[in-house]
Amino acid sequence: MENSILKVKNLNLSFNKLEVIKDLSLDIGKGEFVTILGPSGVGKTVLLKLLTKILLPNSGEITFTPQEKNNLNVSMAFQKSNLFNWLSVYENLKISMSHSNMNEIEKRKKIESFLEFSRMINFSNSFPSELSGGMAQKINLIRAFLQESETVLMDEPLSSIDTIQKMELQDFILKLWEKQKKTIIYVTHDIEEAIYMSDRILLLPFVKQQKQRIKEIVIPFNRPRKRIKMLTESKYVESYKFILDFLKSELEVEFQ
Ligand SMILES: Nc1ncnc2c1ncn2[C@@H]1O[C@H](COP(=O)(O)OP(=O)(O)OP(=O)(O)O)[C@@H](O)[C@H]1O
Ligand SMILES: [Mg+2]
Repeated sequence: MENSILKVKNLNLSFNKLEVIKDLSLDIGKGEFVTILGPSGVGKTVLLKLLTKILLPNSGEITFTPQEKNNLNVSMAFQKSNLFNWLSVYENLKISMSHSNMNEIEKRKKIESFLEFSRMINFSNSFPSELSGGMAQKINLIRAFLQESETVLMDEPLSSIDTIQKMELQDFILKLWEKQKKTIIYVTHDIEEAIYMSDRILLLPFVKQQKQRIKEIVIPFNRPRKRIKMLTESKYVESYKFILDFLKSELEVEFQ
């Protein structure tokens, strides 16, 4: 791929006899929003952990371009907000910039601009226990974007959030992505979310034979997307059906 920021080549990882990642290859372009979707237990979180070097593969290559020193290629936001309870919102954000070369004043400016942008500036001195679940997740997301890495990995960041707040946070992530021009690798179970958010969806199958062959869908909608309009388009239904058929065949289930 032209403009590639991440190449994974022939990656393998087993836990004892359990082959989770097998001969997996993929290529992500700079600035792309790519979602990894697949059944529970297929290895999505393991794949993200390999990209962050929390886990090391048995073999294969993971190459970020340009290669950063100190493994700072990626930052990660998890499903649970895991903020430090004893630190204020501001301090939680500041701690995520500990690798930055910015001075104190520059850091403060950057954090405050993110808090303004997310309409959270009045909560700068609040503690995580004083925030709603959605607000805490907003801070958690900002934390991943404040780091200087070019790529942000997100592992089901909105899976425990109610529908309306989830829609707001989806748009918040898209706004951050557009403003910061980062590359996002996103994991979700939610088919509608995947189609609404992504440029491309990679469907990750279980290891069966020799190779773990990813199926790919390129999302045929321009941005900004209109949610309701998208839901009524036949291109949406086709993408949805393609993903659902993939999940049904991986799980060998039938339902209407
Ligand atoms: N540290 C580990 N040691 C042993 N097995 C592991 C370890 N981490 C993950 N696994 C196994 O690897 C497989 C993939 O796990 P992973 O957490 O990546 O699934 P997932 O696709 O993220 O699922 P979910 O959608 O439920 O989050 C599972 O069978 C899991 O039990
Ligand atoms: Mg997972």
